[in-house]
Amino acid sequence: MSGEAEPLIHGNSSEQRNYAHDDAEHEAAQQQSRALRVRTIVWSLLGLLFIVGIVIGLVGPDYYADHGWSGALPKDPDLAARRLLDMAPVIDGHIDLPMVARYGWRNNVSAIPLHDKMPMHVDIPRLREGRVGGFFWSTYVPCAGSSAEGKKFLNATWRVRDTMEQIDVAKGLIMKYPETFQYAVSSADVKDSIFQRKIASLLGVEGAHQLGNSIAVLRQYYDLGVRYVTLTHVCHNAFADSCGYIDMISPLHHGLSPLGFKLVEEMNRIGMLVDLSHTSDMTATQVIMHSKAPVMWSHSSARAVHNVARNVPDEVLRMIGTGEGQKDGIVMVNFSPAFVAPEGEADVERVADHVEHIARVVSKKHVGIGSDFDGIMDTPKGLEDVSKYPNLVAELFRRGWNKYELAGLTGGNFLRIFAAVEDVAHKLQSEGALPVYDVYEEREDMPSRRVGEAL
Ligand SMILES: *[C@@H]1O[C@H](CO)[C@@H](O)[C@H](O)[C@H]1NC(C)=O
Ligand SMILES: *[C@@H]1O[C@H](CO)[C@@H](O)[C@H](O)[C@H]1NC(C)=O
Repeated sequence: MSGEAEPLIHGNSSEQRNYAHDDAEHEAAQQQSRALRVRTIVWSLLGLLFIVGIVIGLVGPDYYADHGWSGALPKDPDLAARRLLDMAPVIDGHIDLPMVARYGWRNNVSAIPLHDKMPMHVDIPRLREGRVGGFFWSTYVPCAGSSAEGKKFLNATWRVRDTMEQIDVAKGLIMKYPETFQYAVSSADVKDSIFQRKIASLLGVEGAHQLGNSIAVLRQYYDLGVRYVTLTHVCHNAFADSCGYIDMISPLHHGLSPLGFKLVEEMNRIGMLVDLSHTSDMTATQVIMHSKAPVMWSHSSARAVHNVARNVPDEVLRMIGTGEGQKDGIVMVNFSPAFVAPEGEADVERVADHVEHIARVVSKKHVGIGSDFDGIMDTPKGLEDVSKYPNLVAELFRRGWNKYELAGLTGGNFLRIFAAVEDVAHKLQSEGALPVYDVYEEREDMPSRRVGEAL
């Protein structure tokens, strides 16, 4: 009996047996339904294989970089860039949309029209046109300035309030457009967002001046979803020295302060990415040597291509990598014309020069994109807003970058660093590393020693 011979295909075989007789019509009907079921199963299996293939290809551990997708890119650079970005969309390390919300709309999320043409560089139609798969929403507030914060940085604690407001406005906008944005706090979340064709939305705090001198605040920012803290902005703070802006400023701590070293340790333990954009060369060097986890520059370019303090010098770039004595890391290239080229010369080719320089000194696996859109007043020719990323990809394709290298640049390299930072945190926590409870020694609002501690 066919019902007994192929129980897997026919399902309930006892039911089959009850109805089995010599009726030819019935036999034909049965054969037809059998064929239908076989077809259904084959198609289901094929469908499953297809989904598994997509999952492995798109969101598997080697997403982008090693096992990409089959087929060559088109010969035409613009078509190639779009095709590439459809598979491996941009993950931008630094976008200042929350700042536009603060200064343009007093943070009224309800009033901000992200489906319309926004005044600066970012809105939903242009994000889609530019094939953006994720970005860090910078929850930046400015340095208070030395007259307001006092010499020991003790006074500007309202900057913690302001940072909270920027976290709030970022989250409000992410939640206002759930069909576009997906809140993300892990490398797995980012991959999932991209798989769902949403824009992974991560939070970054742009300067340890936003911590109110407190490592406890760092931990609470992490709990609020923040996944990188830039160690400085354009001012020094209690933890670390800044590089200044165009010209270098003279050091205060000569790199990290003692509390700054502790901050880095705690960032490693909790899985907060250490962002070295804006830091002085000494700060960057000390962090690279001290950090147990890979480091990032969320929005910095190459000083050898354009000599300004904000760019990363070759001596520091050479400390990055996977060789002996090096630390893994990523430099996400900034588009700000002031950092890209002499006045009036910034364009997509010059930005590509920065990408290629970093790729030459470190490797193509250590470079990414950190446009600084919405945080810069002007933009390079050809990279006017978030719809223009394909121009940069096309330019590098013209220069011979292959699809895996390009996919690393657009997002894969960042995901590798992010996942490695998460791994270090898991390891440290599973080894029982204790939280860092050091208190800034200049604080006057806490007793200078704890109960029972010797004088
Ligand atoms: C915020 O924006 C909404 C929508 O435009 C408006 O109805 C509301 O009054 C605004 N709130 C404030 C405090 O301006
Ligand atoms: C900082 O705060 C302290 C204590 O309230 C005050 O004495 C000092 O004048 C303030 N410094 C500045 C620069 O505002």
